[in-house]
Formats: sequence, C-alpha cells, structure tokens
Amino acid sequence: MPSRRDCLKLTLGAGLSLALPSAALLAATRQPLLTRAIPSSGQQLPLIGLGSSATFSQVARSEDISALREVLRTLIDQGGKVFDTAPSYGASEEVAGRIATELGITDEIFWATKVNVAGREPNAQADPAAARAQIETSFERIGKPVVDLIQVHNLGDVPTQLGILRGLKEAGRVRYVGVTSTSKPAYPRLIEVMQNEPIDFIGVDYAIDNRDVEETILPLAAERGIGVLVYVPFGRTRLWNRVGDRALPEWAAEFDATTWGQFFLKYVAAHPAVTCVTPATSRASNLIDNLGAGRGRLPDAAQRQRMIELVESLPAA
Ligand SMILES: NC(=O)c1ccc[n+]([C@@H]2O[C@H](COP(=O)([O-])OP(=O)(O)OC[C@H]3O[C@@H](n4cnc5c(N)ncnc54)[C@H](OP(=O)(O)O)[C@@H]3O)[C@@H](O)[C@H]2O)c1
Repeated sequence: MPSRRDCLKLTLGAGLSLALPSAALLAATRQPLLTRAIPSSGQQLPLIGLGSSATFSQVARSEDISALREVLRTLIDQGGKVFDTAPSYGASEEVAGRIATELGITDEIFWATKVNVAGREPNAQADPAAARAQIETSFERIGKPVVDLIQVHNLGDVPTQLGILRGLKEAGRVRYVGVTSTSKPAYPRLIEVMQNEPIDFIGVDYAIDNRDVEETILPLAAERGIGVLVYVPFGRTRLWNRVGDRALPEWAAEFDATTWGQFFLKYVAAHPAVTCVTPATSRASNLIDNLGAGRGRLPDAAQRQRMIELVESLPAA
C-alpha cells in the first residue's frame, strides 16, 4: 500500500509531466533540502520556503482553494518547512491555518507571520491594544500555542510592536521576533533597528537584479547574528518578464539549476547571510520547482558573477 507521501509524488508526477521535465522532477525529489541555522538558536531551517502574498493570496480569497491545499501539502511532503504570511495578505493566514489543521501538518510548519496594526504612516501612534488583538487573531488562525516567528511588518511602529513581540517571546509564546522591510527608502531605518534592537530575524527584498542589501544589510545581519528571510526573490513578475522564453544557459547545470526559477533562487540562497528564501506560489508544480533550488550545489562567487552578467545583459522588463 503506497504511503501518503508516495501517493502525492505519483499524483504530482502524473499531473506535472507537462509542467516539469521528469528528470528535473526526479532530481528535485531525490536529494535532501539544504538547511541553514537560525543564528540566534542554531535551529536548522530548509533553505527554501513558501511565501503567501501575490498569487497565493489571490487564490486564498477565491472560492476554490484546493490548489493551496496541494501547495501546503507539497511543502511538507517535499521537505520544506517555512511559511511566510501576514494578517495583511488577504485570507492567506486564515486559509493556510485552516488547511494545515485539516491536513494535520500545523506542527510541521515553521510559521512566520507579522503584525501591522497602526504605525504605517510616518509618526502614526500604534495602538498596543489593536496590535495585541491582531497577534491573538494570528495565534487562533495558525492554531498553535507557540508561533515560530512574528515580525513587525514594514517597520511599522517598532518601539510599540517589537516591545509587544518581545514580551510574548519572554512569555514563551513566540520563538523568534523580527522586522521586515522591502522599501529602499526605509533601509536606513532597518539598519538602525538591526544595530540597536535584539532581533532574531529580518525579512527583506533580495533578487539577482535587486542586490542593494548585499552592501550593508546582509553583512550586518551576519555580523549581528540576525537571520534573513528573503522576500520577492523573483521581483514578483519582473524576472520572469526579463528572461521571457529564453533557454537556460547550459552552465546552470554546474550548480544544479534546471529551471530559471532555480537559477534565480540559487543566486540569493548562495549568500551565506541568508537563512531562508520564501518565494510565493499558488501552484504545487512551481513549489516543487522552487524547492529544487534548495537541493544540490549552490553557485560560488565566480558563478554568481556570471549569473548577474547574464541577467544584466537582458533588457529590463
Ligand atoms: N514587507 C514584507 O514583509 C514583504 C513584502 C513582500 C513580500 N513578502 C513575502 O515574500 C514573499 C515572496 O514575495 P512575492 O510574493 O511578492 O514575490 P515573488 O516570490 O518574487 O514572486 C511570486 C510570483 O512568482 C510566480 N512563481 C513562483 N514560483 C514560480 C516558478 N517556479 N515558475 C514560474 N513562476 C513562479 C508566482 O506565480 P504562481 O502562483 O503562478 O507560481 C508569483 O506570481 C511574499 O509572498 C511574502 O510572504 C514580504
């Protein structure tokens, strides 16, 4: 009798024959996922996870969420763990929490969510009661007494919101705390927080054509022992438009990339300060593709330079 995991592989194997070459699929599912340690604890996390804004949140708010059930089931069955969400991603957090409960995989997921109530406008006063209420709703949606990671979304009101999160960490209800930003004008503030606040994680935008964080933010994260979740690793649609239907260069095989998705993800995953890359997808086939970037070899410095040169030689979309 085949196990649930075998069934999934068979189902995906049949369903995905057009989406992924069978050799790539076999290679993707055979090797273990690479892991990185969370600097503040040493806990190992698979290098590739799953994000939930973009298309994931579009499907979450639709009537048919079956694709997301497959996506979350695939994440766990294929050795993934990290799921990045937020109360502001439409129905993503709520739907993912419900699906995980139905599938019995709630405890197998590393839940990374955020708090964003108030503090969005410059000088806005965060309402601690509203922020606490939002966090409690996240606990209910996720369905775990201890949530792995909660971050201050877009550097909202750091003193208030990070203060609340730290209290929850001290009380043992949150394992890790952090802040996120994907806005370049906010980088100086992000750097200030990284320098002055005891945080376990940051979440930040990083992609092969968006490398500003390599200058200061990633070296600072390494120096301060702060874990890094990579956001928007494809620039959402930007990198897909940029490569269009061009063939992947043969030399991508030198670091075991078999698709453009893996090429883009392996570039950011190879940076040693990165803890986990969380591309969003609403398709199990694309998730398998993405998880393949966390398997096999990663590019070295010379290969990464060649990758940059190739992408920069293509017209910006
Ligand atoms: N400030 C913040 O805290 C912040 C800001 C932005 C993002 N984030 C986090 O980072 C995550 C990732 O960023 P993002 O969602 O903005 O953009 P992204 O991950 O760069 O791109 C997602 C897009 O790529 C497509 N895609 C994914 N895998 C693919 C594959 N293998 N082949 C072809 N297409 C593929 C998805 O479509 P399909 O569904 O068709 O696969 C979707 O359109 C978010 O979901 C969120 O969790 C956080």
